[in-house]
Amino acid sequence: MTRPLRLGVNIDHVATIRNARGGSHPDPLRAAQAAAAAGADGITAHLREDRRHITDDDIDRLIEALEIPLNLEMAATDEMLAIALAHGPHAACIVPEKREERTTEGGLDAAGGHNHLAPFVSELAARDIRVSLFIEPDPLQIEAAIHLRVPVVEFHTGRYAHLEGEARAEELRRIAEGAALAVKNGIEPHAGHGLSFDNVGPIAAIPQLFELNIGHFLVGEAIFTGFEASVRRMRETMDQAR
Ligand code: PXP
Repeated sequence: MTRPLRLGVNIDHVATIRNARGGSHPDPLRAAQAAAAAGADGITAHLREDRRHITDDDIDRLIEALEIPLNLEMAATDEMLAIALAHGPHAACIVPEKREERTTEGGLDAAGGHNHLAPFVSELAARDIRVSLFIEPDPLQIEAAIHLRVPVVEFHTGRYAHLEGEARAEELRRIAEGAALAVKNGIEPHAGHGLSFDNVGPIAAIPQLFELNIGHFLVGEAIFTGFEASVRRMRETMDQAR
């Protein structure tokens, strides 16, 4: 039987809505607890350098109250490393970050950035944090992840989500081949970005994948159906595709 696929729910955009008015509603911690009740296996939050959504206080409260694992998305900077080491989340996913981007555009250049990334990977690992690299499903980047000895890679599915027809099928093949290469080398492959009810099926059906991280679509859908219902339906859609 194919192993069950974990669902990590990204709550960044609950914080985006809260910050639009500056108060405390809607609370990302409450959303995280609702996601857990609806079948999420973990919570993902990206503490950005500019704090445009998740804040330091959100991370404090999530670490304090969450009963499912927290995956902290972070740029490879000294500031974020210090925060991760101070809090000790279950996992840390290193992502590229540019101030001017609207979302994480493209994966990390683990191949070109090996020397910069290596000390981040080793310091996080020494604190028992599961390190993951957010990369394109590109054999060069997977080789770099192998050299960096990370236990996890997360494949950026943004290109897959935006393409159509044969180009999308080709990108799906790249992700499936990348997942197989990662597993062959003892690395646990995850995937995420831009996934929705409509496009998650073929990704969830890749048997080597262990986890999907999904956020923006679930928060948007919550406007129409409620957050728990939106997470629950994603969980069911993933399980059916498996
Ligand atoms: N995984 C990573 C590493 C991300 O940076 C993001 C976006 O913050 C996601 C998954 C989730 O993407 P989306 O919000 O498009 O579902």
